[in-house]
Amino acid sequence: MTTDMHHHPEAQTQEQDLANEESATWLFGYGSLIWKPELPFVDAQPARIDGYLRRFWQGSEDHRGTPEAPGRVVTLVPDRQGRCDGVAYLMNNVDIEQTFAQLDHREKNGYTRLTLSLKLGSETTSESQEIVQGITYIANENNEAYRGPAPIKQIAEEIFHSVGPSGTNIEYLLELAEALRARAIDDPHIFALETEVLALLQQS
Ligand code: BEZ
Repeated sequence: MTTDMHHHPEAQTQEQDLANEESATWLFGYGSLIWKPELPFVDAQPARIDGYLRRFWQGSEDHRGTPEAPGRVVTLVPDRQGRCDGVAYLMNNVDIEQTFAQLDHREKNGYTRLTLSLKLGSETTSESQEIVQGITYIANENNEAYRGPAPIKQIAEEIFHSVGPSGTNIEYLLELAEALRARAIDDPHIFALETEVLALLQQS
């Protein structure tokens, strides 16, 4: 066997350790985390989950609305044939507890953490896709702020009129739609709402 002086197997192993497991955790973002991560992540990758759809079905009484006039924000809704494209952030585990504490505060209105399989990487390039376990935040129909399904025009009206401590509900929707477009992610539900809300803005 020849000795390769330029090969440093140990250094490579450390990098892979971080990316693989134990010292780091993948966090899947599908909402505000896409356009406003504000996380100390060490890597970000396009990622997708199967079996869920992104829907503006969660009420927001603390960020994009008020208890009297709740706004709407996205959650993941189980759907056998569904998929949701987003972004996976790799978090160093030394930062993770603080990150969860921040997110638990930021998303306290009904979301809980869930571990699920993420498919990492872009489908449009020839890079191989990797499946990892990751954590995401989901608000199901059992939380008090849950709003559930409604016609697109009605959801658009609610978004159009809602404002909370974090800003307008319109901003949340338009930033999300823009971020999805920038990443070449198609999501008919989001883009239909964007179209409706832009029409309402034009009329106002
Ligand atoms: C997000 O993926 O952006 C997200 C959604 C709900 C709660 C926390 C984060």
